[in-house]
Amino acid sequence: MADNKTSVTIQNLEAAFAGESMANRKYLYFARRARELGADDVAAVFESTAEQETAHAFGHLELLYPSSELTVERMLEMAVEGETYEYTEMYPKFRHLAMEEGNTAAVKEMDEQIEESREHAEMFQAVLAKAAKRFAALAKVEERHAGHYQDALDAVKAGKSAA
Ligand SMILES: [Fe+2]
Ligand SMILES: [Fe+2]
Repeated sequence: MADNKTSVTIQNLEAAFAGESMANRKYLYFARRARELGADDVAAVFESTAEQETAHAFGHLELLYPSSELTVERMLEMAVEGETYEYTEMYPKFRHLAMEEGNTAAVKEMDEQIEESREHAEMFQAVLAKAAKRFAALAKVEERHAGHYQDALDAVKAGKSAA
């Protein structure tokens, strides 16, 4: 199998994941508008379909990010990475191009998103730091336990009581 960076299938799964995710949010947005327009039955169809799109997106995610490989730390790291990319690269570039096109509404939107993504990155970073501390404390406890077992084992080997 090709590695993940060059695999066409992985790229297709990424694109399919993006498409299904967008369909989910778009249908929920359409549902809200349909309700405003008094078309509750149509809204309900959009809402139930949106739920199925989420299931499709999750199916793709399971192949892209197998849950067996996802630790709490890894997920937080990826979240920090994604939000940092958004506020340091993606939105600043989009903002610049919106400026050039004179689209002031879009510039304002990008400014808000830069702020929000920065807040999200900081929040995830803080949660990650907390989790890392907890893991370090747990590792210490485990180390102590392992030490006790080793002492007991040594005692048994030496022919003494392991109490
Ligand atoms: Fe779908
Ligand atoms: Fe965000």
